[in-house]
Amino acid sequence: MTPTPAVESGARSHTLVPVESVAQISSILRDADPTLDPRLAALARQAAADGTVLLRNDGVLPFGPDSRVAVFGRVQIDWFAVGYGSGGDVKVPYVWNLLAGLRDAGVRIDDEVAETYARWTAAHRPASSDVWGRWPHHLPEMPIDDAFATAAAGRNDVALLVVGRAAGEARDSVLEPGSYYITAAETELLDRVTAAFERTVVVVDAGNVMDLGWLARYGDRIAGVVYAWQGGMEGARAVAAVLAGEIAPTGRLTDTIAAAYEDYPSAGHFGDADATVYAEDVFVGYRYFETFAPERVLFPFGFGLDYAEFEQTVIRATTGADRIELEVEVANIGAVHSGRQTVQAYVSKPGTTLAQAARELAGFAKTSLLAPGERERVSIAIDLADLASYDDDGSTGQRSCWVLEPGEYRFFVGTDVRRAVPAASLTRDTLRVVRRVREAAAVDPTTPFRRMIVQRGADGGALVGWEDVPVATVDRRERVLGDLPAAIPLTGDRGIVLESVAAGTASLDEFVAQLAVDELALLSRGDLTMDSPLGTPGNAGVLGGISESLRAKGVRPVTATDGPSGIRLSAFASLIPSGTALASTWDPGLVRELAALHGQEMVRKGSDVLLSPGMNIHRNPLCGRNFEYFSEDPLLTGRMAVAVVAGVQSQGVAACPKHFAANNQEESRTRNDSRVSERALREIYLRGFELCVREARPMAIMTSYNKVNGVWSHYHHDLVTTVLRHEWGYDGCVITDWWMESAVDPDFPALEDNAYRVRAQVDVLMPGGVKTEDGPEAYADDTIQDSIARVDGLTLGELQRGARNVLRLVLSLAPVIDARTGEGSGAAR
Ligand code: BGC
Repeated sequence: MTPTPAVESGARSHTLVPVESVAQISSILRDADPTLDPRLAALARQAAADGTVLLRNDGVLPFGPDSRVAVFGRVQIDWFAVGYGSGGDVKVPYVWNLLAGLRDAGVRIDDEVAETYARWTAAHRPASSDVWGRWPHHLPEMPIDDAFATAAAGRNDVALLVVGRAAGEARDSVLEPGSYYITAAETELLDRVTAAFERTVVVVDAGNVMDLGWLARYGDRIAGVVYAWQGGMEGARAVAAVLAGEIAPTGRLTDTIAAAYEDYPSAGHFGDADATVYAEDVFVGYRYFETFAPERVLFPFGFGLDYAEFEQTVIRATTGADRIELEVEVANIGAVHSGRQTVQAYVSKPGTTLAQAARELAGFAKTSLLAPGERERVSIAIDLADLASYDDDGSTGQRSCWVLEPGEYRFFVGTDVRRAVPAASLTRDTLRVVRRVREAAAVDPTTPFRRMIVQRGADGGALVGWEDVPVATVDRRERVLGDLPAAIPLTGDRGIVLESVAAGTASLDEFVAQLAVDELALLSRGDLTMDSPLGTPGNAGVLGGISESLRAKGVRPVTATDGPSGIRLSAFASLIPSGTALASTWDPGLVRELAALHGQEMVRKGSDVLLSPGMNIHRNPLCGRNFEYFSEDPLLTGRMAVAVVAGVQSQGVAACPKHFAANNQEESRTRNDSRVSERALREIYLRGFELCVREARPMAIMTSYNKVNGVWSHYHHDLVTTVLRHEWGYDGCVITDWWMESAVDPDFPALEDNAYRVRAQVDVLMPGGVKTEDGPEAYADDTIQDSIARVDGLTLGELQRGARNVLRLVLSLAPVIDARTGEGSGAAR
């Protein structure tokens, strides 16, 4: 079987409906779909506002009731509410733009300027954006002349200038004007507006970090800067509420904004077609900047300003052998504004043997809304074991172990990575092995590289150094053979249905023993195409009960939908803030609450599995899907993923974190090999997944398209079996990202494609069809059945093990209740 290259998973198929007033919304919701929940919209607005980051403010914000504001930039109307691709393609009932949002918030807008933009944007509608991967990174700007700007300045006190960017799946940002950089037309607009107005506030509406180096050019003429991530259908209205002071700005950066693109440690290794070398190793984002180049930072990780004025004091630092607890009092010492503070704790590890970043996020806590004069104590508890580093080269004497090296651990507390000040310290006399694991997914010896380490200069300062990355030493064939599960003897059909397993009257193994090889093979793939007739229209795919015989045994079809910013179906669905916007709230409680309402919407819409959260690391600001992902930091990523998974799954439906693992660029994503040390893989790229699996137990997980150290993730025995399942104890269902690449197992030539995949414990090929020359419906795959019969082929035990993983997902889902009869279908937990 030679599949044609993977086809993309769909394209934006509808236009966004702009909304102009709150009054309009109820009728839109009623007409579009009465099952959409206004409480979800309200919470989405709160989250979008809480994730809005105030980067600069000389007092111009919030706009007072008397401020007269002229709004420039077409994005005030053509607002980017979300990024592109499967994570943004939601049939949304309405979308606010900033102009409407500002009016809704009662800001006194200059009508003449607004109407000029309304006329111009109506006459210059963006070209259709239906071609997959060709969506615009920006929209051409309306030219203005000096007279227009000067006249507006005569009528108004302040200018608000909006710049917008988008990127997406199959659409990385690029180092060009209109994407990472501002365009000549935007520069002209900035020049004219800042020349005419003494004070200009800039709003950046973007899913990715874009270059902000140009701010320096305008000095204090730019009086305020707000980074509005893509906040979904209510996002623009939320940003407006922040600008107007109705909602406090409480967002904090989840990434570093560097002075220039070249400053990012991954800048030299991004976007290559075949392989991406993660040469910066663990020094991703602020870990690099705080260690080597603090002066190259415009806005540090964790940064965000408030309208309120806060003071924070470390009241107590309790250090034990295994734990440290920091109690911090936050006081709103301002007289006017309420606000919420995010207290962040960072650790600096000894770095005696292993190269360590100057600071790592170790914990955080956000206060509730504090009125002027109010104070609150928050506590951050840090388990020392969670600070362990991974020794992948044996330099501590404990290769393949998570270790705490001897030496001083210094803790810092503050409101961003840079401003955190010393709060506590503890010293370990000896090395502690926290966990001993097995080397896994290390660098392929045939593709070695040099990785970044810390070298000390004459003055003790940190300098970038390089060393050879350690390479894999494991015999994979031997490892796989040592891991083969015993087969359950086949019994033939004994009439046991899955409901009996759910009810506890039969075991899962007894159920599985009845399944013939053909049925087991069916469980290992979805129903051929996207938009499967077995699921709700517009679904991403269906797995589980995809045949009559399986359904007769009580295995129901399980419908999967994208995720993460909304439920992607043919029907209307809510568009919630994207991943970065959510993470910028630093408020897992709020995110969990929103995800629970989202889970309720899934139940109403007939989605069983939400292909969300996207939790790859923001390794580089150009990655097209950064908007879907949370942060450059793995702890924050993990905490947010736990919140989404716990919220969604509290409603009896499943979340499916993705893409496991190291899917950090869109360029050649199905071919690209992420070459990364085992240490960086474990400490940075897998850490969030680990937290999520251990704490939230997602019912499903999606592998990534790319290779990791030479092996496609959907074939990666070490990633999925050695680490995810054996180390982390995961027994849920692992699915591929949509389709997969054809390959023969290098260690077991009898295995190819689906057989190779099942051996890794990637249980389900999604959506299930194999792309042949005749199209996706032509299912021409019997590799599993063939392989079972061959020497060194797939074993029955492995096929049954995969089936158990799939059935566990079916069993974990709440039963579907037929609205007419009240009868349940499918197996209950
Ligand atoms: C994306 C996934 C998505 C899937 C289904 C793939 O192209 O990478 O994130 O869930 O399509 O739409």
